[in-house]
Amino acid sequence: MKKDLLSVSDLSRNEVEQLVEQALQMKKGGTPSLLSGRTLALLFEKPSLRTRVSFQMAMHQLGGHSIYLSPDEVGLGKREPVADVARVLSRYVDGITARTFSHETLRILADHSPAPVINALSDQEHPCQALADLLTIYEKKGRFSGLTVAYIGDGNNVANSLLLSACLVGIDFCLASPPGYDVKEQVLNQGRQFAAFSGSRIRLAGNPNEAVKDADVIYTDVWSSMGQETEAEKRRLAFSGYQVDGELLSRAKRDVLFMHPLPAHPGEEISPGLLDDPRSVVFDQAENRLHMQKALLARILPSNPKGSD
Ligand code: CP
Ligand code: NVA
Repeated sequence: MKKDLLSVSDLSRNEVEQLVEQALQMKKGGTPSLLSGRTLALLFEKPSLRTRVSFQMAMHQLGGHSIYLSPDEVGLGKREPVADVARVLSRYVDGITARTFSHETLRILADHSPAPVINALSDQEHPCQALADLLTIYEKKGRFSGLTVAYIGDGNNVANSLLLSACLVGIDFCLASPPGYDVKEQVLNQGRQFAAFSGSRIRLAGNPNEAVKDADVIYTDVWSSMGQETEAEKRRLAFSGYQVDGELLSRAKRDVLFMHPLPAHPGEEISPGLLDDPRSVVFDQAENRLHMQKALLARILPSNPKGSD
């Protein structure tokens, strides 16, 4: 595996499949001292519930330690340059998990840190979310090939990583986004390259009804991501007609799953009550963040703890 995980495209199909297998094993329990002596720093510029707690609990359950550093404590790029933060932090800890506004900040951290850097969400990608999503899909459906994921809504960080990971493992991907909010051409092209090897197909649908036809999974995310709060009103208008509700789910396959990374905004991207629909697996999906973080940390952190040699 590469030193850092900044994008889904840092992983091969084989590595993703191994991580899913390993996470399924982790979910059964055991391996309590696998990361004994290892410390992970969590450097976050934005709020988090799932990502922060699942990484901290993953370290704890595997016998390691974690340190959470909030935006005000470090002042990444304000109190001191991002490169210097990376050079200092990596002298103390075995790995850095970072949630940043700009993907470029992650690249600078990775370039200046000998310790691995994991993307805990940036403006471009959310690879740890996508890996846990694949785990959830595999757990529920027992396979990847022959499945179709329909993504409805903003072509954002979550959509980018989901598209890339689906194309890597052979899942067909169908997208419906309002004009101007589509997944960028560069990400589509990367997805097409993966699809050429895996056999996936990417389809751009004109509207949500068309997108969910034959879908095994319907996925959506917030209309305004963290950092886009000032655009919220404009986005609410642009995305009207893109709300996922029970009727839309009924247009897909009978055994369709509904997925969302959370936090959700009922009344915007989903209808009120949808999280509790029998077809919703969102809380299993959230739990799987923990099992996937354990599999990922076991693979990406160095085998010798800092200070042991
Ligand atoms: N899905 C997700 O990343 O949630 P948090 O923002 O709470 O970490
Ligand atoms: N797209 C959302 C995902 C939150 C987990 C955001 O970036 O805020």
